[in-house]
Amino acid sequence: MNFENKTIVVSGANSGIGAATARLLTERGAKVIGLDRNGDGAGLHGFRTLDLTDPASINAALADLDGPLHGLANVAGVPGSLDGETIMRVNVLGLRQVTETLLPRMEPGGAIVQVASDAGSGWRKRLDLILELIRLRSYEDGLAWVRDHLMDGPDAYYFSKEVAVVYAIAGSMLARDQGVRSLSVSPGAVETPILKDFYASMSTQILDRQMEQAGGRNARPEEIAKVIAFALSEDASWLNGTDIVVDGGGGTAFHFDLVDKPAEQSLDIVFGR
Ligand SMILES: NC(=O)c1ccc[n+]([C@@H]2O[C@H](COP(=O)([O-])OP(=O)(O)OC[C@H]3O[C@@H](n4cnc5c(N)ncnc54)[C@H](O)[C@@H]3O)[C@@H](O)[C@H]2O)c1
Repeated sequence: MNFENKTIVVSGANSGIGAATARLLTERGAKVIGLDRNGDGAGLHGFRTLDLTDPASINAALADLDGPLHGLANVAGVPGSLDGETIMRVNVLGLRQVTETLLPRMEPGGAIVQVASDAGSGWRKRLDLILELIRLRSYEDGLAWVRDHLMDGPDAYYFSKEVAVVYAIAGSMLARDQGVRSLSVSPGAVETPILKDFYASMSTQILDRQMEQAGGRNARPEEIAKVIAFALSEDASWLNGTDIVVDGGGGTAFHFDLVDKPAEQSLDIVFGR
């Protein structure tokens, strides 16, 4: 993966997966422009402070961010331990506003990666509801919909990630005329500062079972960053309009309905041995 002469925007660049992605892209030659509420972008080509809960802050931060851009990774996100509206503002409405503000500045051959989560894997079951929200094109209209459909923190987190997956898939249609690809990357649990909030707001049985099935550990942020970077790169030129799950195999526990079964029985249950 070579990003010489490429300018790539990474949101959430101050911490965790976003910081690892910004570092890796920089090492591979990219000019990375970080976006985050916190930090100063030390070591990056450029940095803009912005608050994804506030559309005016997003507009102000991106106003002078000139193209041509070759990639966008929307990594910033908040967990289900926050209130539902804040989660939807950051993980959906802000993510979408950054995407649609920067898309016109992107070069053909570029790519957009939305970082979703394996928590978004149930998107097919709520597709009609997700499309209702996606069809409301402005931050304000989206916010009004969110307020009409209040969810508690954990449910809003799941829903926000389902929307991110669908928005990335549908985004391939928005971006196609420009020759820009659109994808989501969905990590399982990753060792970043946010993980303790997932343990506080999600079922620990699910998280523990997933880790067991993934071989006894969670991902390191660098392992997710490599997949995001690949998805952004020209090497991934035929990868478009799809979700890439990066969970070390932890998701197999869900595919086969094994969450409440002991890990050592998994092979017997699936293969009948
Ligand atoms: N860590 C995990 O286990 C895990 C699993 C699946 C998906 N994810 C997703 O990966 C993404 C990155 O998470 P992480 O694990 O690196 O967490 P993190 O907390 O280390 O990083 C999140 C970043 O987002 C920024 N951010 C939060 N709210 C913001 C706002 N209002 N405006 C601007 N920036 C804001 C934070 O300042 C921080 O730099 C998130 O979208 C998260 O949902 C994480």
